[in-house]
Amino acid sequence: GLTMKLLEEKIVNDGVIKSGNVLKVDSFLNHQIDVPFVAELGKELKRLFADRNITKILTIEASGIGIACVAAMYFGVPVVFAKKSSGSNMDKDVYFTQIYSYTHSKTNDVVVSKRFLSKNDHVLIIDDFLANGCALEGLIDIVRQSGGTVEGVGVAVEKGFQGGGDKLRKAGYNLHSLAIIDKMDAKTNTVVFRHEE
Ligand code: G4P
Ligand code: NA
Ligand code: NA
Repeated sequence: GLTMKLLEEKIVNDGVIKSGNVLKVDSFLNHQIDVPFVAELGKELKRLFADRNITKILTIEASGIGIACVAAMYFGVPVVFAKKSSGSNMDKDVYFTQIYSYTHSKTNDVVVSKRFLSKNDHVLIIDDFLANGCALEGLIDIVRQSGGTVEGVGVAVEKGFQGGGDKLRKAGYNLHSLAIIDKMDAKTNTVVFRHEE
């Protein structure tokens, strides 16, 4: 769609490729936020998941929160963001999981209060980036613990060459990424996108 085309253009024009296959999109998504633009991404996610009866959007702090919130405006549901916790994992009032980040070479303890997710929830998981997919797998694990249903997964930028997205598709999740990068090169600052039918 048009929104996907606009996101690709924005990545090409404003994105900066760093070493280690990291794409910086700090000017519109990850540091400064272009809110009207990100709102279009949220609207597109609503269109893609219009057939699902979503009761809650789940994301993870920090950089998933912005896109999750604008999407939530279109779905008319609350956003719950998983918190990276340094406190006690013994807390009985939280769902707990561990998420390894390849990008940051670091494992985070992650929690969601049991007050905000239950077996009655139909959850759309949203994140800004999908790379190896550990973050989304952790969020899926939290929904599983709650007894709720994962209705789908929506992502702004998928780095397709890192395999996390294809793993989720293979597992049967209804995943939509608004831009999928199949290749990027820091030296020439070029990006190749995947286009599926
Ligand atoms: P990873 O384990 O390969 O890093 O990937 P995963 O899909 O689990 O995402 C983990 C974290 O890395 C996420 O943020 C994600 O947004 C971020 N990330 C992965 N690749 C890129 C990239 O190329 N560019 C940018 N800008 N971010 C990327 P997080 O660690 O949960 O932290 P936060 O930044 O949201 O606070
Ligand atoms: Na991030
Ligand atoms: Na994120």
